[in-house]
Amino acid sequence: MNNQIKIEKKIHSFKKQIIVPGDKSLSIRWVLFSSLATGISKAENLLLSEDVIAAVNAIKKLGIRVNIKNKICKIYGRGIEGYKFKKNIIIDAKNSGTLGRLILGILIKTPYPIKLIGDQSLSKRDFKRVTDPLSKFGAKFELKNGNNLPLKILGIKKPSPILYEEKRGSAQCKSSVIFAAMKTKGRTIIKAKKSRNHTELLSQYLKLPVKVKKNKKFDLIEVNRVKKISPLNYKIPSDISSGSFFIVLTALIKNSELIIKNVNINPSRIGIITILKKMGVKIFFEKQRIYKGEKIANIRVIGPKQLKPINCPSNLNAGAIDEFLVIFLVAAKAKGISYFKDLSELNQKESPRLKWGSKILNLMGVKTKTTSDSIKIYGNPNLEVNKEIVIKDYLKDHRVFMTSVIASLAFGGKWTIHDKDSIKTSFPSFLKIINDIKK
Ligand code: S3P
Repeated sequence: MNNQIKIEKKIHSFKKQIIVPGDKSLSIRWVLFSSLATGISKAENLLLSEDVIAAVNAIKKLGIRVNIKNKICKIYGRGIEGYKFKKNIIIDAKNSGTLGRLILGILIKTPYPIKLIGDQSLSKRDFKRVTDPLSKFGAKFELKNGNNLPLKILGIKKPSPILYEEKRGSAQCKSSVIFAAMKTKGRTIIKAKKSRNHTELLSQYLKLPVKVKKNKKFDLIEVNRVKKISPLNYKIPSDISSGSFFIVLTALIKNSELIIKNVNINPSRIGIITILKKMGVKIFFEKQRIYKGEKIANIRVIGPKQLKPINCPSNLNAGAIDEFLVIFLVAAKAKGISYFKDLSELNQKESPRLKWGSKILNLMGVKTKTTSDSIKIYGNPNLEVNKEIVIKDYLKDHRVFMTSVIASLAFGGKWTIHDKDSIKTSFPSFLKIINDIKK
C-alpha cells in the first residue's frame, strides 16, 4: 500500500533553482571503463541509483574492488584483461539495459560461461540486438526464446574484428560492440545511426584507438585493440533525462521559471530541448563549458503563455528517446495536433512507452491516435483533469511513474500512482526535488 502515492493538488507557479543527480549513461560507462583501467579511478557525483549499483556489483563479481565513501566512488582497475573469471558467475543487470548490453561486449573473451539475468522488465527486452553482432566476433550465446534474458555467454579467446551496421540508433548496441572491439586484435568498423556518443567521447578522452568520422545521418567508428586504459577521475555532470521532468513541469505551468545546474548537454542528448523550443518553450543554456569532452551548462527554462503543436522530425528521436513520455504531456497542452513518428524503439524500453504514453493521455481525457511506431496527440491549451486516475501494472518503469507525477501536478485530478520504488533505478531523489519545488 505505501508503495504508491496520491496526488490531488496542482502545483502553483514557481521560480526555483535545482540540481539533479549524476548522468546515468555516464555513471554506468565510468564504472565499466574504470573496471578495465590500470589503477585507481575516482568519481564524484556518481549516480547512486539501482542501475548504477548493479554495474558496481557486476564488476565486483568479476574481481574488481570498489569503494564508495562520502559520495566518492573508487574503482581499483586491474587492466583491460584483468577480470577474474570463475565458473558459474551470474551477473544481475536488474532493470538496466545499458549495463546488460554493454557488459556483454566486455565479456567477449570470458573463458567460462557467464549467466546474465535481469528483472521482469529487462527479461522482456530484446538482447538478440547485441548477441547477433557479438556472435560475429566469435562468442557463443544461449538466450531464452532466442531473444531474451536469462542468457549465457561463452567467450572466445581470440575474437575476430567485425564490420557492423547499427541501424536502430541504439547507443547500447553501438557501445557493446565498441567494448568488444577494444579487446579484439585488428580493426572493427561500425557504421552507426546517430545516437548518444558518451562511449566514443570517453574513449577519445582516454586516448584509446577509437576514431569517429561523422556523417549527417550516421557515424563511422573505427576501433582497434586497446592495450591499456589510464585511470579516469571524473565528476559526473547532471542527467538531462532526470532534468527533463522539471523542464516539462516548468513548460506546463504559466509564470514559472527554473534553473537546473551543471547539466550534461551533449548534442546527442538534447532532442527534448530542440523539440520544446519548437513548441514555444523558452530554454537557454548558460555558463556553457566543456568537461573531459562533454558539454555542460546550466539550463534556464521559462514557462510560455501558449504551447505550439509539433510535427516532430524523426532525426530528433534518438536524442530524445528517454524523454518522449514527458514530451507527450507538453503536446497534450499545445494548441493543435502534434505528431511523432518512426518511434518503434519506444516500445522497446523498460515498458512499451509509446503505448503507456498514449494510455496516460487517454486516462486524462486527451485524444490520441497511435500505430506501432507513431502517435498523434490532440492538444488542448485549457486541459484540466477532474477525475480519478490510477496508474499501475506498468512494469515498474521509472519514467512512467515520474511522468504521471508531472501530469498530476500540471493538470490536476485525483491520482493514485503505484510502484513509487521504481524511481530508485534512475532517480531516487525525484520526489524530494518535487517537494522542494512545491515549497
Ligand atoms: C542508453 C541508450 C538508450 C537509452 C537508455 C540509455 C545508453 O537506449 O534509452 O536509457 O546509456 O546507452 P538504446 O541504446 O537502446 O536506444
